[in-house]
Amino acid sequence: MSVTAVPFITLNRFEKGFKENFLGGVATLFEKTQFVGGPVVGEMEAELAKFTKVKYAIGCANGTDAIQIALRGVGVEKNDKVLVPDMTFWATFEAVVNVGANPVTVDVNRNSCHWDLETFKKAVTEFKPKAAIMVHLYGWATPDTLEIRKYAKENNVLLIEDGAQCFGTKINGESVLSGALISTTSFYPAKVLGASGDAGAVFTNDEKLNNACRILINHGRTDHYSHGMIGWNSRIGAYESLFLKLSLEHIDARIESRKNAVKYYAEALQGLPFKPVVADSKITENGYCAVGMIDPALRPALMETLKAANIGFGTIYPGAMSMQSGANGHLVGKIDNGNAHYISQSVLNLPCFAYITKEELEYVVQTVKSHFNK
Ligand SMILES: Cc1ncc(COP(=O)(O)O)c(C=O)c1O
Repeated sequence: MSVTAVPFITLNRFEKGFKENFLGGVATLFEKTQFVGGPVVGEMEAELAKFTKVKYAIGCANGTDAIQIALRGVGVEKNDKVLVPDMTFWATFEAVVNVGANPVTVDVNRNSCHWDLETFKKAVTEFKPKAAIMVHLYGWATPDTLEIRKYAKENNVLLIEDGAQCFGTKINGESVLSGALISTTSFYPAKVLGASGDAGAVFTNDEKLNNACRILINHGRTDHYSHGMIGWNSRIGAYESLFLKLSLEHIDARIESRKNAVKYYAEALQGLPFKPVVADSKITENGYCAVGMIDPALRPALMETLKAANIGFGTIYPGAMSMQSGANGHLVGKIDNGNAHYISQSVLNLPCFAYITKEELEYVVQTVKSHFNK
C-alpha cells in the first residue's frame, strides 16, 4: 500500500516478540510484587553501564530529576551560578532553578548548534560559575566536547552533561557519556532508549559521586531510617527497568535504523533551500532526530505543505531559553549572540523514529522536493 501519511514520531514499531517478553516479565514481577527496586533494577543498571562504558549507572524517575541529582551530587548549592546552553529543552534550565541555583544562559554556535570552546571560555571568565551543564542536543555533541571538559576542569567548573538526547552517541569512536565527570539521560518513551513510562539515569565513573547520587534519589537515606541529607523520592520503577533491559537487547538495531533515516534525508535533500544538517565528523550521532535548517521566512510554507501531506514535523526548539517567560526572575546573566534565537526560527525536524520504512522516507523526501520544485 502506498504511503499517504508519516508521523513525526511513533512508538509502535517494536521487534517481534518484544511485547510478549515484556508482558510476561511484568506478570512475573506482579506475582512477586516487585514494583519498586528488586533485582531487575540492578540488572538494568549493569546493562546501561556496559553499553555506555561508564562505571556506574543510577536509574531514577526521569531525566529532569537526573540533572537535579547530578547538580546536587557534585555539590551545587543555593545561589551558585550554573551555565546552561541557550538552546536546549527547558528541563535543563528548570533543573538549575529547582536546586536553588541561578542559571546563566550561554549562546550556542550557529553551525554546530552546540556550545563552542570560545564562548564557553568567555562565559566562565565573565560569570565565574560553580558548574555548567553541557547539553548533547539532537543526538550530537559539540566538536569541542573534549576541550570544554578540559577547560572546565582546569578552571574548577563542575561540568554536568545532559545526555537526554545522546544515548548511544560517540565522539572519536567512544561513548560520549564515558568521558564525562557526571552525565544524565532521559528514558522518556520517545527517546532513543525509551521506557514504558517516565524514567532517567545518572552516569559517573566516580565512586563518591555514585554514592552521593544513590543517596539523593532515595530520600537522603544513609540507612533505612537514617537520613543524611535532603533528597528526593526519584526511584525508578521495576516495570520501567524491565522495559529498558529488554529494549537494550535491540538498541543497536534501533539506532542503526534511525541513523539510516538521517543519512537518507541528508543525501536525498541536497541543493534545496531546506538544508539537512548532520553532526560534525568527530561525532557518530544516534539518529535521535533529523535536523534541517531553512530561512525563517520560508519555514511556514514548508510546514503547511508537510501538514497537507499528513507528514509530522518538529521545531526542536522553537524558542531560546533566555526568551521563555518562565526565565523571568531566575536568569542572572546571559551571553546572547543571537544564534539560539536564529536556530529556533530556522530549525525543522523531519520524521525520524526506529524502523521508519524506506517508503515513508521516500514519501517525505518527494513531498519536500516537490514543495521547492513547483
Ligand atoms: C535535553 C533534555 N534534557 C532534559 C530532558 C528531561 O527529561 P525528562 O522528560 O525525562 O524529565 C529532556 C527530555 O525531553 C531533554 O530533551
